[in-house]
Amino acid sequence: MPASSTQHPNTRPKDVGILAMEVYFPAHYVDQTELEAFDGVSSGKYTIGLGQSAMGFCSDREDINSLCLTVLQQLMEKYNLSYSNIGRLEVGTETILDKSKSVKTVLMQLFEASGNSSVEGIDTTNACYGGTAALFNAINWVESSAWDGRYAIVIAGDIAVYASGNARCTGGAGAVAMLIGPNAPLVIDQRVRSTYMQHVYDFYKPDMLSEYPVVDGKLSVQCYLRALDQCYQAFTKKAQQEEFEELFTLSSADGFIFHSPYCKLVQKSLARLMLNDFLQDPNPDFQDLYKGLEEFREVKLEDSYFNKQVETAFMKSSQPFFIQKTKPSLLIANQVGNMYTPSLYGCLVSFLIHHSLSELSGKRIVLFSYGSGLASSMFTLVISAEAPQQTQLQKIHQCLSDVHNRLNTRVKQTPGQFEQMLKLREETHHNAPYTPVGSTENFFPGTWYLKEVDDKHRRQYEKIPSAAAT
Ligand code: ACO
Repeated sequence: MPASSTQHPNTRPKDVGILAMEVYFPAHYVDQTELEAFDGVSSGKYTIGLGQSAMGFCSDREDINSLCLTVLQQLMEKYNLSYSNIGRLEVGTETILDKSKSVKTVLMQLFEASGNSSVEGIDTTNACYGGTAALFNAINWVESSAWDGRYAIVIAGDIAVYASGNARCTGGAGAVAMLIGPNAPLVIDQRVRSTYMQHVYDFYKPDMLSEYPVVDGKLSVQCYLRALDQCYQAFTKKAQQEEFEELFTLSSADGFIFHSPYCKLVQKSLARLMLNDFLQDPNPDFQDLYKGLEEFREVKLEDSYFNKQVETAFMKSSQPFFIQKTKPSLLIANQVGNMYTPSLYGCLVSFLIHHSLSELSGKRIVLFSYGSGLASSMFTLVISAEAPQQTQLQKIHQCLSDVHNRLNTRVKQTPGQFEQMLKLREETHHNAPYTPVGSTENFFPGTWYLKEVDDKHRRQYEKIPSAAAT
């Protein structure tokens, strides 16, 4: 990795995108089969019905600041980056600890030793979409006349917890950090991108004293699917105008990855894209792909969000696409749960580590980002096939190669311990002064954790020594 961008700031930067990535998830998890039994729901509801195997969670030792400190420092250390060479740092999160002071400012303590306090960017919030907004901001900065030649970093981080009830099993926690600059191995294609935004109360957090959202689960699923339809229709139109002579369909890209509240919704989403393709196709009868779907020709998208017949038929027909283009992105989503803002980027990490470097070279991936309330975008990432970028991609692969091991060495907690921990978080959230009681014994090397909160709500953190230092 060059010390800073090799491109002079007076020349227009090319191929702006992701140069390095790191992911953090908690060292504790609860098993979803055990949670089904504990919650008294029918066996298979969380594991098969929602497609989740495990859920990561945090004790009172971790908060949004500690998650972001951990993932930022891990990114800097693993890729041997210098804090002096960072000109912008953006945080996307919906885990709000302070209505004024941003998480970004807390992260500035990591920059102190370098003497670099010239770092633009603050926090961006709208449910699970904040990380994508932060990414777009960082890309725009590098492509703008304000760019000074240094790198940007985007962090998406959240602790996703729900009140006791049917949404609780769709929680999770984690953070992703991305280094942004020109000549990237993972290029964000700015030409083809679509956005759909609307005012809706599907999921929101009006109670400042609680970590929990107010959520209308069914409405949130409907909003997600409507946003997906709208983004895909605008996206395919643009893609056709820009570069494709024929229709843009599921065959036009190598990967389709989605914000993942739970994995089954992602599988349904891919099926939904096939439904869109089918309805858009002027001659669907000529396509083997659509055999057996003729009866759905008159389906209206807005009437079909919960139409089981349509859903089942298109999930079946899109299964080969799902296995090839989407399932490889679901490892972290399945094992950690919904991390909110980092969910989509955890899916990107999973997709990258699933494939070999030669399989990734030249691939085009479509990403769908959704945040309740609602904000959504669909955009494209192209994996460079150029030799220097392949070397950088190899470094990303190498730095993420410990993800499987980290997932496998997490410590399983019983559903009872999980419930107790959430109760403790509930009772002590925003207490000041407060000294956390959770154990740090099983934390991964390099994990930052909350040491104490003083009577003025000022938070102090400590760190488990990094792997290199142990
Ligand atoms: N074996 C197999 N499948 C089962 C079983 C079983 N024993 N029992 C139930 N199921 C299936 C159901 O048929 C259903 O499948 P379907 O969705 O394909 O119809 C699925 O499991 C879920 O069961 P429901 O009864 O629909 O679940 P419930 O309504 O209790 O909760 C929900 C699901 C609404 C997603 C809830 O967990 C929630 O509110 N989560 C938070 C909101 C959310 O994630 N929204 C998504 C977008 S917004 C965001 O990202 C936050």
